[in-house]
Amino acid sequence: MADLTVHYLGKKLPSPIIVSSSSITRNVESIKKCADSGAGAVVLKSLFEEQVEAELDHDRSASPDSFHPETEDYFRQMGKHLGPADYLKLIEKAKKSVSIPIFASLNCTSSAWWTTYAKQIATSGADGIELNIARMPRSRKEDGESIEKRMVQIVAGVQAEVPLPLAVKIGPYFTSLPRIAAELKKAGAEALVLFNRFYQLDIDIDSMRLAPGYQFSSPSEMYTSLRWISILSGSIECDLSASTGIHDGKAVIKHLLAGAASAQVCSVLYRKGIGEIRTMLRDIENWMRAHNFSSVAEFRGKLSQAESADPESYERLQYIKALTGIN
Ligand SMILES: Cc1cc2nc3c(=O)[nH]c(=O)nc-3n(C[C@H](O)[C@H](O)[C@H](O)COP(=O)(O)O)c2cc1C
Repeated sequence: MADLTVHYLGKKLPSPIIVSSSSITRNVESIKKCADSGAGAVVLKSLFEEQVEAELDHDRSASPDSFHPETEDYFRQMGKHLGPADYLKLIEKAKKSVSIPIFASLNCTSSAWWTTYAKQIATSGADGIELNIARMPRSRKEDGESIEKRMVQIVAGVQAEVPLPLAVKIGPYFTSLPRIAAELKKAGAEALVLFNRFYQLDIDIDSMRLAPGYQFSSPSEMYTSLRWISILSGSIECDLSASTGIHDGKAVIKHLLAGAASAQVCSVLYRKGIGEIRTMLRDIENWMRAHNFSSVAEFRGKLSQAESADPESYERLQYIKALTGIN
């Protein structure tokens, strides 16, 4: 039997496939299905700052007259999601139901307040926290440096007070990804999740309104994380978890060869069902057998760019070859 175990975020996982934060991981029944299908861990659906504020405001407000109609609509929307008290219960129940690690997920925009909540998550038994730091810069007054500084402050603030390993899930849009990765690591991130897939904006041309875009990824989207994991894995002392566009066992193998510690999946499970994890693991085992590997540890990172003699020239050469058509 192939040894599929990996080490990620301070835990030994039975397999490298993690079910990423999504509605699949917001109830115990489907978390159990993930574990039964061979997932190495799950990241729970994120708790959003706005949900917590909504619950607090609800508690504070004695009079419904104080709500603006739009606010009421907002509360109704929020009511469809888990509130913070339910979130802690979900962690406790999930921990009792499965033996794989359970990572909580927080979507933060500010630092101080989050620390308080992350502390409660720590007492509810979560094995780690993924901080989903997603901010769309909209103001021309805010420069890149101050945005990155705030991200680093969020991580440092939580790390200073919360005794759980932290992963930070970020998007791919930075002028220098190696630099922000190093800063986040310095602030206390033990793992980086590369990458978040942001909400896609579309326009409905019949109603002429803004509309949500297609929410699921396609397999061709995996190349961004493959490149960056291959570049960063040898140069940063941080676990890297691949995310976005991983739809089959081959994509997991590629990311492990590039140096990922784990690979997160979401869209493929919405499309094919949670049982697809088992198919992906079987394909990984077959590939390992064909290449005489008995454990993931034997091949993980074999093709990270740190293993290449001259990675920069190699990539530039492939780029020129592709553009000129010369082989
Ligand atoms: C329906 C849905 C809900 C999601 N909810 C969250 C969330 O609460 N927090 C989060 O960090 N990511 C969330 N994501 C993003 C996924 O965790 C993942 O990063 C993204 O879908 C890319 O991975 P994939 O290509 O495997 O789908 C969600 C994705 C989907 C499709």
